[in-house]
Amino acid sequence: MSSLCSHPETNLKMIAFSIPGLSIFGALVIESASAAVASTFTAPAAAPTDQSPFYVGASNGTITNSPLVAGKVFDRFIQIWLENTNFAAAASQAVFQNLSTQGITLTEYYGVTHTSEPNYLAAGGGDFWGLYDDDFEAVPNNISTIVDLLDQKAISWSAYQENMPYDGYEGYNYTNQDDGYTYYVRKHNPLIIYDSVSQNTTRSARIRNFNDFAVDLGNNTISQWVFVTPNLRNDGHDTTVAFAAEWLNYWLVPLLEDPNFNTDRTLILLTFDENETYTINNQVYAILLGGAIPTTLRNTTDSTFYTHYSTLTTVEANWDLGNLGRQDTNKTVSNVFSFVASDTGYTNNNISGSAIPLLNLTTTIPGPLNPEYYVPYLAPTNGTGGGSGPTFFASNVNMSLNAADAPAPVNLTAAGTSGSSEVRVGLGLLGTATIGAVIMALL
Ligand SMILES: *[C@@H]1O[C@H](CO)[C@@H](O)[C@H](O)[C@H]1NC(C)=O
Ligand SMILES: *[C@@H]1O[C@H](CO)[C@@H](O)[C@H](O)[C@H]1NC(C)=O
Ligand SMILES: *[C@@H]1O[C@H](CO)[C@@H](O)[C@H](O)[C@H]1NC(C)=O
Ligand SMILES: *[C@@H]1O[C@H](CO)[C@@H](O)[C@H](O)[C@H]1NC(C)=O
Ligand SMILES: *[C@@H]1O[C@H](CO)[C@@H](O)[C@H](O)[C@H]1NC(C)=O
Ligand SMILES: *[C@@H]1O[C@H](CO)[C@@H](O)[C@H](O)[C@H]1NC(C)=O
Ligand SMILES: *[C@@H]1O[C@H](CO)[C@@H](O)[C@H](O)[C@H]1NC(C)=O
Ligand SMILES: *[C@@H]1O[C@H](CO)[C@@H](O)[C@H](O)[C@H]1NC(C)=O
Ligand SMILES: *[C@@H]1O[C@H](CO)[C@@H](O)[C@H](O)[C@H]1NC(C)=O
Ligand SMILES: *[C@@H]1O[C@H](CO)[C@@H](O)[C@H](O)[C@H]1NC(C)=O
Ligand SMILES: *[C@@H]1O[C@H](CO)[C@@H](O)[C@H](O)[C@H]1NC(C)=O
Ligand SMILES: *[C@@H]1O[C@H](CO)[C@@H](O)[C@H](O)[C@H]1NC(C)=O
Repeated sequence: MSSLCSHPETNLKMIAFSIPGLSIFGALVIESASAAVASTFTAPAAAPTDQSPFYVGASNGTITNSPLVAGKVFDRFIQIWLENTNFAAAASQAVFQNLSTQGITLTEYYGVTHTSEPNYLAAGGGDFWGLYDDDFEAVPNNISTIVDLLDQKAISWSAYQENMPYDGYEGYNYTNQDDGYTYYVRKHNPLIIYDSVSQNTTRSARIRNFNDFAVDLGNNTISQWVFVTPNLRNDGHDTTVAFAAEWLNYWLVPLLEDPNFNTDRTLILLTFDENETYTINNQVYAILLGGAIPTTLRNTTDSTFYTHYSTLTTVEANWDLGNLGRQDTNKTVSNVFSFVASDTGYTNNNISGSAIPLLNLTTTIPGPLNPEYYVPYLAPTNGTGGGSGPTFFASNVNMSLNAADAPAPVNLTAAGTSGSSEVRVGLGLLGTATIGAVIMALL
């Protein structure tokens, strides 16, 4: 039996629980971040090519990449995700207006659910597993991600997380010691939440901080698939779109001119995780930038229906990869970015208007991370993704636990529910001596 206390986004879910035959109580030690923080952006260094003590951890040396694997349309894909800003508010900022003249503005791009964390999970593993909050999660290592597909073809990848203290850091968040502000959060770090990445040190070392970014950029070793998460202030989460715009002017705008970042074979997606308003569909602002955009398509818009799953299928199409057998094989929600689709022979659906599915649904989507509609982690379903490669099946995935034979969703929180011993344990290691343990028992 367990009971949940609901919580605002920034608070931990506290759960009292009992396990038959055991008597344990979860204790939380919470360090609060309360220091006053300036409301205007302060550049952490002279340029994004420079390291800064503000980024916390020292660089861990230059990343080692396997030799470049040419894609059909681009050789590098960089995603930069911002937070919770209205399309119109973004569109009203000079920097977005300026950027839009250099790229393709995607006018029908959607988040896939609410809250933040499930959207990031979707971009990593092709599903959000029923999650509807921002709690500490660790997806088991039989569940594959885009990393498996990239590694199969030796395509280098990395993630850069601003204010993450050191490579592969698994903590729930991190508070800078100088100003006591929590800038880094695990919920915005898509790959660390997957144990198949975080529990493999070869892989987790590729989830890097911004001091590593400066070194990698300087040494021209930016990988071929890159996910960038600015900190909670620079991504607009704790601030305003004007603040995020200042960060973009500091960080992205000069990097667009840096050949170690943006080559003529680089595609950049600048987008937002989710729409702020749950009661409307989940459209977000998104723009494609970079040297790989054909000159004739710069300063244009594209009204094809895309979602975060499109980031997976576009990459799959470009490098002719396999697929995850998740929503990246769901043709309704996984259109490939149009100019990439044309150049790779991929056929998009032409869903538009009221045919666009509702992607603002939350709490009612069954999955292993939804205790009220619990379904175990299932094996991938054989299907076709953006590329012609086969569905990837992890060697440790239980093939008999598949969608065709899936049990009906179970309400694990309902009194009297028995027969499940599923226990999710999350351990949040904070950057100081403080340890927050989040223990959730689903009985
Ligand atoms: C950081 O983690 C602590 C302890 O787990 C929690 O109390 C706090 O709300 C978290 N802050 C953010 C911004 O996630
Ligand atoms: C290249 O990487 C090395 C460490 O691996 C670092 O000392 C050096 O500063 C880097 N070069 C640049 C230009 O950043
Ligand atoms: C949410 O979607 C609505 C309707 O498309 C749009 O007007 C609004 O700007 C969007 N908000 C965000 C956060 O993008
Ligand atoms: C827009 O971009 C142009 C060319 O890069 C630059 O000269 C100008 O200062 C930019 N304006 C704003 C408001 O960012
Ligand atoms: C550097 O990378 C290694 C793995 O290659 C990791 O064990 C170590 O924690 C990293 N150190 C820092 C400071 O990021
Ligand atoms: C860890 O990741 C590397 C790189 O993808 C892979 O070669 C290796 O098999 C993985 N190890 C395990 C135990 O999964
Ligand atoms: C999702 O958006 C639709 C219309 O955009 C709205 O009718 C519906 O109530 C929303 N759903 C939720 C759960 O808010
Ligand atoms: C971008 O396109 C608009 C019309 O859609 C036009 O008014 C504007 O001058 C163009 N800007 C550039 C920099 O080409
Ligand atoms: C494909 O996506 C649509 C829209 O989200 C959804 O209704 C449908 O259930 C999905 N199909 C599968 C097999 O997951
Ligand atoms: C998936 O489909 C491929 C091609 O049709 C087939 O070779 C393979 O055996 C299938 N795998 C599973 C697990 O069904
Ligand atoms: C994946 O691993 C989890 C945790 O061990 C397990 O509960 C689940 O049944 C597994 N699912 C598959 C399809 O292997
Ligand atoms: C699950 O059970 C709990 C406790 O009985 C109940 O409050 C909740 O409404 C149920 N959820 C669903 C989706 O039936």
